[in-house]
Amino acid sequence: MTDSRTRFLLSEDGIPTHWVNVLPDLPGDPLPPLSPATMQPAGPDDLAAIFPMGLIEQEVSPEPLIAIPDAVRAAYKLWRPTPLFRAHRLEADLETPARIFYKYEGGSPAGSHKPNTAVAQAYENAKAGIAKLATETGAGQWGSSLAFACTLFGLECEVWMVGSSYDQKPYRRSMMQTWGATVHRSPSDRTQSGRANAEHATGSLGIAISEAVEVAAQAPDTNYALGSVLNHVLLHQTVIGQEAIAQMALAEAVPDVVIGCVGGGSNFGGIVFPFLREKLAGQRDVRFVAAEPAACPTLTRGVYRYDFGDTAGLTPLMPMYTLGHDFVPPPVHAGGLRYHGDSPVVSALVKEGLVEARAYRQNETFEAALRFARTEGIIPAPEPAHAIRAAIEEAEQAREAGEQRTILFNLCGHGHFDLAAYDAFLAGTLEDPEFSEADMEAALARLPETPAIA
Ligand SMILES: Cc1ncc(COP(=O)(O)O)c(C=O)c1O
Repeated sequence: MTDSRTRFLLSEDGIPTHWVNVLPDLPGDPLPPLSPATMQPAGPDDLAAIFPMGLIEQEVSPEPLIAIPDAVRAAYKLWRPTPLFRAHRLEADLETPARIFYKYEGGSPAGSHKPNTAVAQAYENAKAGIAKLATETGAGQWGSSLAFACTLFGLECEVWMVGSSYDQKPYRRSMMQTWGATVHRSPSDRTQSGRANAEHATGSLGIAISEAVEVAAQAPDTNYALGSVLNHVLLHQTVIGQEAIAQMALAEAVPDVVIGCVGGGSNFGGIVFPFLREKLAGQRDVRFVAAEPAACPTLTRGVYRYDFGDTAGLTPLMPMYTLGHDFVPPPVHAGGLRYHGDSPVVSALVKEGLVEARAYRQNETFEAALRFARTEGIIPAPEPAHAIRAAIEEAEQAREAGEQRTILFNLCGHGHFDLAAYDAFLAGTLEDPEFSEADMEAALARLPETPAIA
């Protein structure tokens, strides 16, 4: 008999009590970040100018599980646990024997997975007596999430929004302002980093990060908040994977492959790490696939080196796949995936062969997004449309091979503010911007001298 169940729901008690920290599970000692001033390993003091100690401790913690503070868990109750769906209609449309499941994070107040870390970061900063958080936003999802979280914990919020997204998505700005945030188009003339990059009018995440870090480093009552890349951010997102493990058990299904899109790595780490821990412990046999844009192919074409997290070189250097910190990716609509670098942990997993990375072009990604919207109903954000593309590829391979396969992917946000991109696709005017190998080589030539990494 075919299983016709579609939604797999947990009660409030199903909100995890801990975050999963995979640092202790990884082979070897983690490579330390380097101080931008000395190029020597950065200690907690190097981070204390812009982050509260509670988050710095999470960043370097050797503990396998970290308790979620009660106030953060209470905030999670506004939208968690999130549903897990079986994509029956997409499966039928693909005529595949594969079973496709997706975890949907788009029901949060801001419309994506980003509030999972925003509330945790706002909580720790408020506890440390900080008055204001400065940040960047690409797609507008992170800025909205932090604006929402700041309003819950009584903090001010100032956001530098990447120029191309600011122009494409005016209502994301309205949303941030509704939650009380101040929003600037980046590059702006309010910071030295912005003024130095005025010729890159479309902006980039790297430039916007420099602007926000510069402001946070200069004001004692202001800290910086990052929506991706750092260990503590990925840690906070592991509520996704833990809930998904419980929901896949409800569905009596075991995933053969878990898929997420990767910008800086946070929604990917969030769904994958709880499964990865079980795989590394020999309790599970599962593959992991990271999907990224062909126009900003950090994991598939970048080099594995120490690099800055921002364009101006203000942040510590991290060991990661990078296209070069001053590489400005073409303005694809998946603004959240336009980042030159990646999470050090996700980078190390790709390097070790534990994660397979794939890159997709903008039009094939939107084709997948439309197919999903017309079968499953939800209009996906352009970022997770890359994960949908990879899931469809897996389902088609299963059909060709005549093989049962269970696929799980993270649908990390809705696309209600991305309809200009859908308009372009429907009108046949959406472009497939080219990645420039020459620009990457030029940016890589400007990387600082740092210790080589194997
Ligand atoms: C909906 C959505 N998905 C994915 C991303 C990429 O970030 P990450 O790789 O940290 O999940 C973003 C970033 O803004 C986003 O808004």
